[in-house]
Amino acid sequence: MEIEGRHYRTIWLDEDGATVHVIDQTKLPFRFETRGLASVEAAARAISDMVVRGAPLIGVTGAYGLALAARQDASEAALRSAHAALLATRPTAINLKWALDRVLAKLLSAPIGERAAEAFAEAGRLADEDAACCEAIGENGFKLIEEAARRKGGRVNILTHCNAGWLATVDWGTAIAPIYKAARAGIDLHVWVDETRPRNQGASLTAFELGAERIAHTVIVDNAGGHLMQHGEVDLCIVGSDRTTRQGDVCNKIGTYLKALAAHANDVPFYVALPGSTLDWRLSDGVAEIPIEERSGDEVSFMQGLTDAGEVARVRVTPQSSPAKNFGFDVTPARYVTALVTERGVCAASEKGLRELFPHEASL
Ligand code: MRU
Repeated sequence: MEIEGRHYRTIWLDEDGATVHVIDQTKLPFRFETRGLASVEAAARAISDMVVRGAPLIGVTGAYGLALAARQDASEAALRSAHAALLATRPTAINLKWALDRVLAKLLSAPIGERAAEAFAEAGRLADEDAACCEAIGENGFKLIEEAARRKGGRVNILTHCNAGWLATVDWGTAIAPIYKAARAGIDLHVWVDETRPRNQGASLTAFELGAERIAHTVIVDNAGGHLMQHGEVDLCIVGSDRTTRQGDVCNKIGTYLKALAAHANDVPFYVALPGSTLDWRLSDGVAEIPIEERSGDEVSFMQGLTDAGEVARVRVTPQSSPAKNFGFDVTPARYVTALVTERGVCAASEKGLRELFPHEASL
């Protein structure tokens, strides 16, 4: 997407193919800075410290991490150990395992001397596929927004949680891609952006993205959605997913489940946008089976912001002696999801619906 007239993806190789570059998302929205990743250790740190985040982008960064590892040592033992180190960075998004498994399988079937080049080529293919896939999600989700606008005959108010925009993917985003497509087609819309405590991906990243694209939006506290829905101020919700089970349960940023409950209670459509790489066909019951990341309680106890003097600062918001617990994600059971929006089309959040769109993947 465009930042100050220049097209960016969230991850790219420099011209001589030596360094992987990413946008440092811990600095947004205050500073737009890029960072070079020159080793597998740097790639793993960028994922665990959330310099890069969002399920699809974590996957592609993992793929480049494996390529950086192959350049250092392309032996099977070294590649398997790099795969394990990268996989251990964040447990919930299945895209990471999906991408790492795909690159590792490709490398192990290649001669050792060709593995590094093959790994960079495969990571590049993954990045290109992710961008194309997200654009297709945008086209498919666009029709839902267009239909909502036609039915309403006026401005469509959309609520989203966390950041499932281009910063969470290689380009376009998942949940925000349909919003980009609709806004560019001239549909009058406005986005309610959940701030998304504790790391504020909505307030800092989604708001940054929508502002850059000049899309009308308002940041709200995480608990405002139910109130807005009761008063007819939300026409539809759309969020992303970090892992989706074969029966259509979706795991997304903590707080998503409460929005889905509020949407259900108020007859507001609740859509989840995801690429096929987010599907975990091995799992059925998301609440019981999806591992939920727990991060440091410091992310709850402290907030980051910009001081009047223009410095990025961290301030404590809890008493020093109060413990804090920090669950990264929650699971929304399929019965609260109106439909899944994928690159192959829109389907019911059910095994039947998913199998119709992904018959080959479902049978693996
Ligand atoms: O912890 P994060 O910022 O990686 O969480 C991101 C989300 O929850 C997104 O909604 C999800 O990855 C889907 S993004 C396309």
